[in-house]
Amino acid sequence: MITIKDKHFEPFIHHEQIADRVEALAQKLNADYQGRNPILIAILNGAFMFAADLVRHLTFDHEIQFAKFSSYEGMDTTGQVKTLIGLSISIKNRDVIIVEDIIDTGTTMKSLIPQLQSQGAKSVEVATLLMKPGKLKVPLNVKYCAMEIPNEFIVGYGLDYDGIGRNYKSIYVVKED
Ligand code: IMP
Ligand code: MG
Repeated sequence: MITIKDKHFEPFIHHEQIADRVEALAQKLNADYQGRNPILIAILNGAFMFAADLVRHLTFDHEIQFAKFSSYEGMDTTGQVKTLIGLSISIKNRDVIIVEDIIDTGTTMKSLIPQLQSQGAKSVEVATLLMKPGKLKVPLNVKYCAMEIPNEFIVGYGLDYDGIGRNYKSIYVVKED
C-alpha cells in the first residue's frame, strides 16, 4: 500500500502487465502506420511515461511532439480546454496520433480532435493507456486503448494525485476507507 497526502492506494496494475499491454498496443500501431511517418502528440503531464515506453516499441518512422492543455470541466458542459503548450510544427496533411494517459469523461479529446482536424491533419487517432468507459460523457472513437478500467481513481505510471505519484512504475487504486 502507498499513501499520498490524505489518501491510501493499493496495488492495481503491476508494471509487468503494463509493459505487456503497452507492447501489444505498439504492435497494433506497427501494423497500421508503416510508411506513413505520423506525428505523435503526447499530452503532458500524464502521458510522458507511457509515451516513452510506447515509442521504444515502434518500428515505423515517426516524430513526437508534446502538448499541454488544461480542461475546465464542470464549468461548461461543452468542455473548455485551454492550450498551455501548443505545437511548434505544422500538422497539415500529416497523420496524427494523440498519446494520452487516460480518457475519463472524454472532454479533453473531444476538444482536441476537432482542433487538430481544423489544422489540416490527414488523420487523427487516439492511443491511450487507459480508459474508463463508464465515465465517458461524449461519444469518442478511441482506436487504440491498452487497458479499460472501472470508475476508480488511480495513480502511478505518469498519473498523479494532486501532482504527486507520477513516478511509481505500477498503477495503484484509491482505497476507500
Ligand atoms: P477527461 O477530459 O475527463 O477525459 O480527463 C482526462 C484527464 O483527467 C487525464 O488526462 C488525467 O489527467 C485526468 N484523470 C482522469 N482520471 C484520472 C485518474 O484516475 N487518476 C489521475 N488522473 C486522472
Ligand atoms: Mg492528462
